[in-house]
Order: sequence, then structure tokens, then C-alpha cells
Amino acid sequence: MFLPLIIGNWKLHGNKKIIKSYFTDLCSKLKLMNLHVEIAIAPPMVYLELAMRYLNQNITLCAQNVDTNISGAFTGETSIRMLKDIGVKYVIIGHSERRLYHKESNHNIAKKFALIKEASLIPVLCIGENEQEYAIGQSEYICHQQLDSIINFVGIESFYDSIIAYEPIWAIGTGRHANPLQVQKIHQSIRYHIARYDENVAKQLRIQYGGSVNEENISQFLRQSDVSGALIGSACLKTDTFINIIKNTEAIKK
Ligand code: 13P
Repeated sequence: MFLPLIIGNWKLHGNKKIIKSYFTDLCSKLKLMNLHVEIAIAPPMVYLELAMRYLNQNITLCAQNVDTNISGAFTGETSIRMLKDIGVKYVIIGHSERRLYHKESNHNIAKKFALIKEASLIPVLCIGENEQEYAIGQSEYICHQQLDSIINFVGIESFYDSIIAYEPIWAIGTGRHANPLQVQKIHQSIRYHIARYDENVAKQLRIQYGGSVNEENISQFLRQSDVSGALIGSACLKTDTFINIIKNTEAIKK
């Protein structure tokens, strides 16, 4: 059985001073708690190593992205070997902000997924529908399609010990979170979809929810049987709020 996994995605925020005080504060407060929650933080790439200096065994590091190449003439990129070299455990791929602003295709994301698995790190694959698709009832269809494109490239076995994050685009950064019962329905349909390929893979799959999660609503999501954690954006940036999210996660006994 996996512990619930809470990942804080910093996106494009922070500086050296903030990273230092955030991690010092977070680690000292978490040290006092006997945690049954796994916590990972995804600061901007340039601060990963700095963050690593402050971590204790309660927290692991997550990268927000990785390149499709291992090494070579690819100016500005970061490879999976580099992430592994500095001690990263999780790598977010397919985030809607990267799909939208950096034109990342499913094929690109599939290549990243394969590289992360080859390096024995853990992909956190983001999927989810946009507002229009949501309005016409296509949420499940879109998630299945995004999954199929990865499965067809990497094979279903690669989903062992991998994470899916369902993040409806219309709920990201809007303060308008998805209905927890609706989230359960989508997560269940994701699991059923994976089970069509392989039931054992489906059973162990961890599926996180992301999109305007905060200290008030986290419990409603985690009470759902197919929600194994959360991917948190703006609410992870303040230690007190993030710690309340962790405490509320801890309080849910499934
Ligand atoms: P918010 O929690 O700010 O809506 O962001 C969610 C997200 O995109 C996490 O990856």
C-alpha cells in the first residue's frame, strides 16, 4: 500500500532567499510530525540542488520537466541523467502549461516518460481536459486518449510505479476546483481504462488530483477511493498553508 503523495509544484516562483527560508521552515516543522504522507517538492530546475541541501527524509525532490534527449547539442535543456545525478525522484511531464505554452505533443511526452522509466525515476504524467471539452462531456475521452498515446509508445508495463495526475485545465489556477465526486468518477475511469490493458498495473496505479487544491478542500478529494494524492500549485508556496494541507491529508484514514 502506498502512502498518500502530496507534490508541491512551484512553477516559475521563488529565489535563493525564499527557497532557503521555505525549506528550513518546512523541514523543521515536519520533523516534529510522525508522517504517514509522502511529500515531494518541485522547485524551478535551477533551485533543485539548493533545495536538496535542506531536505530531510520526509521530503523528496521532484522536477517540473525534463528534456527528450540524454546529452548533446541541445542548448537550454536538462536531461534525465542530470536530474538523477542530483537526487531527483519524481519528474512531472505533460503539464497542461507545457502542452499549451511550449507546444509539447503527446509523442514528446511519451518520449520523456520512456526516458524517466529507463533512468528508474518516477514520472508524474499530467492529463486532463480543457474547459470546452469539459462543457461537452469529453473529460474521460480526453484522458483516455492522452493515456493511449503514452501506452502505445512505452507499453503498459511502464505504468508500474508511475503516477498519473488528473488536472482539468479549467481548474488550474482559477480557484474553481473540480467536484470531488466527479474527480472520483474520472479517476475510476482512468483506472478502468488502464485495466483494459493490464489489471495488475491498474490496481497499483496512483492517481493524483490537481487544480485549485487548498487546505480547505484537500480532505474532500482524499476521501475518494481512487484519489491517492494531490498535485498542488499556488497553495504550496506558503509553508503554513502547505503544512495544513499535509496535516489534513494525514487525518484521512482510508
Ligand atoms: P493550482 O493548485 O495553482 O491550481 O495549480 C495546479 C497545478 O497546476 C499543479 O501542477
